[in-house]
Amino acid sequence: MDIRRKDTPVQARPLTILGLETSCDETAAALVRLDREGRAQILTDQVYSQIDEHARFGGVVPEIAARAHVGLIDRLIARALQQADLGFGDLDGVAATTGPGLVGGVMVGMMSAKAIALAHDMPFLSINHLEGHALSPMMARQDDASPLDFPYLLLLVSGGHTQLLSVEGLGRYHRLGSTIDDALGEAFDKSAKILGLGYPGGPALERAARAGDAGRFALPRPLKGRPGCDFSFSGLKSAVRRSWEELAVRDDQARADLAVAFEQAAGDVLADRAGNALSAFAAQHGRRTLVVAGGVAANAQLRKRLSQCAAAYGFAFSAPPPALCTDNGAMIAFAGALHVRAGHSDGLDVQARPRWPLDEAAAIAHPVSGSGKKGPKA
Ligand code: KG4
Ligand code: ZN
Repeated sequence: MDIRRKDTPVQARPLTILGLETSCDETAAALVRLDREGRAQILTDQVYSQIDEHARFGGVVPEIAARAHVGLIDRLIARALQQADLGFGDLDGVAATTGPGLVGGVMVGMMSAKAIALAHDMPFLSINHLEGHALSPMMARQDDASPLDFPYLLLLVSGGHTQLLSVEGLGRYHRLGSTIDDALGEAFDKSAKILGLGYPGGPALERAARAGDAGRFALPRPLKGRPGCDFSFSGLKSAVRRSWEELAVRDDQARADLAVAFEQAAGDVLADRAGNALSAFAAQHGRRTLVVAGGVAANAQLRKRLSQCAAAYGFAFSAPPPALCTDNGAMIAFAGALHVRAGHSDGLDVQARPRWPLDEAAAIAHPVSGSGKKGPKA
């Protein structure tokens, strides 16, 4: 399909892109406009979190998620277009997450996007969910006096991934390290479940931690002080379980105390591993910004800790607003817009990829877990 079907070259006109996100438990449809200068504006960002559907199971149930996406996606697309007062004919492309993620859900967004592309003769963009997160800080910083530009060091922390990446340009992502076991979001969710804090675990644990005494429990800091940029969180989660099970009195105060101990241990580990990456990045690049993205980046204490860490290494710090940290359609539309502007489009024969590392070369060289799978959070 020729994306230059309109008379004006892609670079010389504003682009309006529909973005669909269905890779886990958020169903999302958003419209993003990229102006001639490359500044992005989110026209509308419709996100439906399937919290009620999954809460009683304590985690995401893939079949229920896929069915819910089917029931929601058309309505969310219609609402997005209505809110922006646009029709399909006003769009310059449709982008969808095609992986990594729960395959049933990914298929729903991907097939919807392909159908729209086919019916309305517009480009289809197959977007890696991690690329959406990786570029989201750029979208969030477009209105600033100092927009974020390549290259930057990215800490991507979500339910399925924990990685440090050097983001060197569109499609150019170089992995410096990743988790060797659990993703941090997964550790948040599992620890919250152990403490009986409910689902979704990350925000629940953050809320509980506010009333906690950080001095009561000493939790481990896996890999802290070791060279390299990899992470490990399964030992931290197990330590939460052990501490909880050993308690004579398991009350709300104990929950809060363990929650804050977990949050601080996670913050120490992130700062330590990011510190090694900041040194490596600084040695290679003149521009110095640390960016954090993905659902766990919504956590206020971790944001604070990482901004202090960045400052200690002479780096600027940037994080999208919390609503753009967790899964959303705007980041997929924005990534799609950058690809359209770069002259890219994908065929309608693209397949869903449940596993799809952002840095394929690193995934082949270091096939560690957490390298591309996004699965149930509990
Ligand atoms: O990026 P995301 O929405 O979905 C994935 O791509 O996985 O991230 C979801 C993860 C979940 O593990 C959730 O518990 C965590 O992000 N999360 C948080 C917070 N908000 C969401 N973790 C810690 N603190 C938060 N405030
Ligand atoms: Zn995500």
